[in-house]
Formats: sequence, C-alpha cells, structure tokens
Amino acid sequence: MTLEVSNTGIQPCGVCSATSRSTEFEPTSTTARLTAASVHFDTVARLIGIDVGTSGTKAILIDETGRLLKRAERSYGMSTPQPGWAEQDPEDWWNAVQECLAELNAQAVAIGVTGQMHGSVFLDAQGAVVRPALLWCDQRTLAECAEATDTVGFRRLVETTCNPMLTGFQLPKVLWLRKQDPEAFGRTEKVLLPKDFIVQRLTGETVTEPSDASGTGCFDVRRKAWAADILGALGIDPRLFPDVVDSWSVVGQTAGGVPVVAGAGDQAAGAVGVGAVVPGMVSVSLGTSGVAFTAIPEARPNDGGSVHVFCHATGGWHAMGVMLSCGGAVSWARKALFADRSFREMDALADDVPPGAEGVSFLPYLAGERCPVVDPAATGAFNGLTLHHGPQHLARAVLEGVTFGVSDCLRSLVPFGGEAGCLRVTGGGAKSAFWLQLLADVTGVPCVTLEQDEGPALGAALLAGVGVGMWHSVVEAAEATVREKDEVSPRQVDFTAPVERYRSLYRMLKG
Ligand code: XUL
Repeated sequence: MTLEVSNTGIQPCGVCSATSRSTEFEPTSTTARLTAASVHFDTVARLIGIDVGTSGTKAILIDETGRLLKRAERSYGMSTPQPGWAEQDPEDWWNAVQECLAELNAQAVAIGVTGQMHGSVFLDAQGAVVRPALLWCDQRTLAECAEATDTVGFRRLVETTCNPMLTGFQLPKVLWLRKQDPEAFGRTEKVLLPKDFIVQRLTGETVTEPSDASGTGCFDVRRKAWAADILGALGIDPRLFPDVVDSWSVVGQTAGGVPVVAGAGDQAAGAVGVGAVVPGMVSVSLGTSGVAFTAIPEARPNDGGSVHVFCHATGGWHAMGVMLSCGGAVSWARKALFADRSFREMDALADDVPPGAEGVSFLPYLAGERCPVVDPAATGAFNGLTLHHGPQHLARAVLEGVTFGVSDCLRSLVPFGGEAGCLRVTGGGAKSAFWLQLLADVTGVPCVTLEQDEGPALGAALLAGVGVGMWHSVVEAAEATVREKDEVSPRQVDFTAPVERYRSLYRMLKG
C-alpha cells in the first residue's frame, strides 16, 4: 500500500527529480531493498527529519550544513485505560505526520523517520491498525516478561539480545495480546515499531532497522537479525516481524518521489544529532526521560540490565541508561508542588539552598524505573523532611534526585567503554543554566550544549542525507553538521553524602 504524500506538500523538487534520475537503485544482498548508489546535488540539498514522539510529532527541514530551516509540531494524547497501561492510536501519529509535512510544505531530497521506541503497532493483512499500540512506558507485561525469560532461559536470552526482558520491550506486548485478546492476535499479520509504521505509510514498504529492533527483546543484537530461536521457543511466527535493513538505507519513496530511509529509534537518532557516534563521545538527554548514551566498540551481554546494549544507527553499537522520569519528574513537581511556576523560578528556589538540600532526598521513580535501577514497581519519594525545610529544599531535592539518577546511569556505561571526558547535553533540561551546572558538579566533567538542539528529528534527517549519498557515513554526517555551543565546567562540590543518602533510600524502601 503506497499512500499519496504529494498532497501533503511533499513534492519531488528540482534537485530531487535530478536525484531520482541519477540514482541507481540496486537490490541489497538479502532483502532486495533500495539503495542510493550515486547522487549528484546541483543545488542546495534539504532534508526532512520526522520524530514520532510520545507527546507529539515533530518534523524539521534542514539544509546540508545541519541548519534548521523550518519546524512543524502536532501534539496528541495518550490513554491509560488501567494504571500502568499506556496506549496511543497509530492513526493519530500518521495524521500528525501528514499535518506536519503539509505545514513544512517544503521540497526535500530525502526523509528520515525516528520515533518512540519499543511500542507495538498491530496491523492486519490490509495494513489496518488492529488495536491501539502499547507504548514504551506501558508496564502491563510483568507476567509475560517472566514467561519469556523462563521459557527461553535467562542466559540464552541475555546472550542473544544482550539485555534482560523488560516490560517496555515489544515482544512481551505481543505475548500479552496473544493471551489477552486472541481474536485481535489472530487478525495480526505484522507487528511494527512506531516509526516503522510511519515509514510504511509513507512508502508502502514494511521494514525495520537494527537500532529500534534492538528494543524488542527478540533481536540478536550482535548478529543484527531476528532471534529465530527465541521466537521459536515462544511459538511466535518470525514472519510477524519486518525485514531488517541499515538505518540509512533508502527503503522506498513517497508518492511524490522523495526517498525515505529506514531511520532509527529516537535515542540512536538523537545521538546521531548530537554527534555521539564514536566511542568516547557521551551524551545526556534531559527530556521527559533522562538518557545517558555512548557508542561502544562492541556489544557485550548486560546481565544486570542497569543499561541497555543496543545497535547504533551508525552500523555499530551503543549502551544507554534510560531513566523513565527525569524532566518528567521536574515537570511533575512544578505542577504538584509549585503551582505551575516556571522552571526558571524552580531553579532560583533550588539555588537558594546548599548542595544536599540540607538533608532532603528525592527519588524520581514516578513511573517505575528502568536504569540503573530495574524496577517497574518502584515509586517516587521525599525523605528527610523537618519543619526547617521549605519549597526551596523540595525544588533542590527534585533537581538533585534526577541528576543523581543520570549520574548513576553514566557510571553504569563505564564498563561498556563509555568513560566520559565531557558530556554533550541536550533536551529541555539543557536550557537550564542551574541544571547544567549541577550536572557538571555532580559528574565532575564539563557539560557542553549544542548549536542545534532538534533532538532525534535532526539525527533522522542526517540519516536521510547519508541514504542519498550526501555523506559517506553517519559519522561523517554528524561531524559535518554538529557544532558545540557553550561549556560549563565542574566546580569542586562534594556530593558524596547526598548521593549515598539517595542510593540508600531506594535500598531501604525496597527492603
Ligand atoms: C528508549 C525509550 C524512550 C522511548 C521514548 O529506550 O524507552 O526513549 O523511546 O522516547
């Protein structure tokens, strides 16, 4: 099914038409996909990156220097039919994508798509959505994770996928559907990840790529192929899952003739957009979730699950620690405790109190936690309150709590080769001078912001550029376009006692 995209403003442009003529599409060895072998750019080449996020979709138009030319955004809701459940209608994503493309109304030489990872889009034989998608933050599948781990065996599971099975991953969602709604499962012909569903709607092609497939729980991360033995052990038909191509592969084109590449999961794409593409370059994203990310030289199984070991969009691998509530916890506090005062006012309050918040600690596990604590049932907490403490202590404790969590994620990257000499920091939190300084002080390394902070959409656009031959590799694309902005140096502040209080609070409550 190829959908008409030309009516959304995406038309083949002069460059693009020339591109189509001079592009030799050759089948790749195993999957017979399209690759752009030789492309000549006579005029300015523009790229579109689309990010299908959890709160909304964003599309950007950049030029070949990585400069942002235009941005369009549409938001949508999430439904929580039961506590711990999180669903969205994939048609809402597709509508948002079409509206964003119509608003950009731009000519581009290629499109790259990224999006929220791990979600399950169940499609029938006609490509229609069978039921709402279960999202990355859905926690309903504890029983299915246990079932998969017991059936496959923990050792075999971790040796193959490099990670333990987690509630957010896609495979346990498939097992849940099979058990809880056999009729819907019976109608399901394909299970796609969110951004792959959008690529399918744009091009008619059903594919995925290694960075997003790594987060399913049934992907052999070292071999970059579906784990047939895991699927076999669980009685799941491997044909449910799409073919796997490289993240920068051109998989097809829109009805208007614009090539679309496979793209990447939002964290891998975000890392491309900040240049975390070679080992040693560590990035931190202070968004709703908090992510510490590094490219690594090789994938090694991670028994403890304190970080995820996944394929990168570069063709290599990466390790990342994902905190479920980071900026999300700060937003929660702003609403719940500070009557919606601005983030900067919260920063100013926090700045009035010495490091350690005079004994107040905060655990940010408002949606359970994935890294470095693996505990979907964990909850948030304040501890150490006395009559002496006021709102300024709560503000500081919240910002310190999430920063200690990020710092612990960073420490968990070290055994995988992610020792940080400096951090490239992005996301909403990177706009806060107070938070950046706190992160530098807690981690003891300089924190650097970037000229372009367009997040995963930028990485997706760069992958699109690689796909049509603007750069030879993803690393080259990042090096050509990512520019550092400001650097915040760490100060000598001793956080030993507050960090120890923070860590022991979780151990105590868990006990
Ligand atoms: C990554 C993860 C989140 C989601 C939502 O593992 O769960 O980044 O992709 O953005």
